[in-house]
Amino acid sequence: MAILVTGGAGYIGSHTVVELQNAGYDVVVVDNLSNASEESLKRVEKITGKPAAFYKADILDREALEEIFTKEKIETVIHFAGLKAVGESVEKPWEYYNNNITGTLTLVDVMRKHNVKNIIFSSSATVYGTPKQVPVTEDAPKGECTNPYGWTKSMLEQILTDIQKADNEWNVILLRYFNPIGAHKSGSIGENPNGIPNNLMPYITQVAVGKLKELGVFGDDYPTPDGTCIRDYIHVLDLASGHVKALKKIEEKAGLCIYNLGTGIGYSVLDVIHNFEEATGVKVPYSIKPRRAGDIPENYSNAEKAYRELGWKAQYGIKEMCEDSWRWQSKNPEGYGK
Ligand code: NAD
Ligand code: UD1
Repeated sequence: MAILVTGGAGYIGSHTVVELQNAGYDVVVVDNLSNASEESLKRVEKITGKPAAFYKADILDREALEEIFTKEKIETVIHFAGLKAVGESVEKPWEYYNNNITGTLTLVDVMRKHNVKNIIFSSSATVYGTPKQVPVTEDAPKGECTNPYGWTKSMLEQILTDIQKADNEWNVILLRYFNPIGAHKSGSIGENPNGIPNNLMPYITQVAVGKLKELGVFGDDYPTPDGTCIRDYIHVLDLASGHVKALKKIEEKAGLCIYNLGTGIGYSVLDVIHNFEEATGVKVPYSIKPRRAGDIPENYSNAEKAYRELGWKAQYGIKEMCEDSWRWQSKNPEGYGK
């Protein structure tokens, strides 16, 4: 039996394939390469010494999915495939709802036809909107999202919850990621954003490597100790191991479960810059810019539920996250070179 990883050529997916293979699972990847390169999977194979069956296919393509489910013996799906650029989702809401929601509905329909009823879904801390208090626990109410990307996560959580409620043969685990950064220790796989990065760490590493001139810090007048926003950055390797733990939970019949995957520690934008400089010895020139629309002052997790129920806890601190992001960027200034 195999684990189907949708979006497995992407940033979090490729790191998770490594962890799965190292844990002894057979892996099948489906990815349409809309935001990834097949090179990532070649490098995964170099790391683990094991090939993953790869299908270049779109999750909107029912026939392609039918073929994969007929050919491969899939036991569980880890579902990363989706579009994730917040700003782009505001410009192209139809494309985001269609890709993320119709894509997932198609995937789930094919799954149930083949009696595969186990799914681990990539959700996001964005579903909390502006949390009333931090650290945020899983039972905090979901909030207003500020963009269509966030709504796709919130809606898909509801859709998968309702599907599990209607048919309790389903095991659904919703993983709410906080802010994934870092890269594999080898420096051979990592985050490979298209164009100018929107997220903080890839922007920092591209400034550090000389591709961008300086970092803009979006606002220093928030009600936080240094005035910049606070987030819960988590090493992508910890996220990847969280998926392996979630798989074990699925094997024990999970029903419906929701877990925060974060470290429980918040760092401000300035903290991240300073930690990066200390960890790498590379200066990151920055200047203070106006606030970015839709940003919230502070969000970090309470991740105790994942520890209690999955035995999962983040292992890596901010220094290692910075070192590993930098190793990847400095060894691969052009990413996978696509
Ligand atoms: P990514 O873009 O690197 O990976 C997503 C992958 O899905 C890409 O390889 C892309 O080519 C593929 N894909 C997109 N649409 C597809 C489709 N219709 N059919 C087949 N493949 C398709 O992103 P990531 O950072 O690895 O994120 C993985 C998942 O985690 C996404 O669902 C994302 O929304 C979610 N997430 C990411 C973050 C983050 O900060 N990176 C935070 C919270 C949640
Ligand atoms: C963003 C998305 C969120 C998504 C997550 C992961 C928004 C409002 N939220 O989260 O929905 O799940 O990415 O993809 O876009 N910053 C700078 N300068 C920069 C970039 C970022 O100061 O050039 C600051 C931001 O203002 C923020 C912090 O760094 O305070 C982290 O930003 P980012 O990495 O984009 O993550 P989030 O905004 O937390």
